[in-house]
Amino acid sequence: MYVCNCNGVTRAEVDEAISAGAQGPTDVLAHHGCEPCCGRCLPEIAESISCGGMAGTRSLVAAE
Ligand code: FES
Repeated sequence: MYVCNCNGVTRAEVDEAISAGAQGPTDVLAHHGCEPCCGRCLPEIAESISCGGMAGTRSLVAAE
């Protein structure tokens, strides 16, 4: 599942960047050689960072 449609960055790639030490949404995109375009994904990436990554996985687990 893509988190950033502009750059084709997936949930797993967001989590990978957070695990590698990305501190902010632009760091996450930069980790994969990208820059923000429309910016729509930035709040979701920021939420993932505040949750320590795998925010989508935690949501799925909590929903079960
Ligand atoms: S969806 Fe990420 S910059 Fe547009």
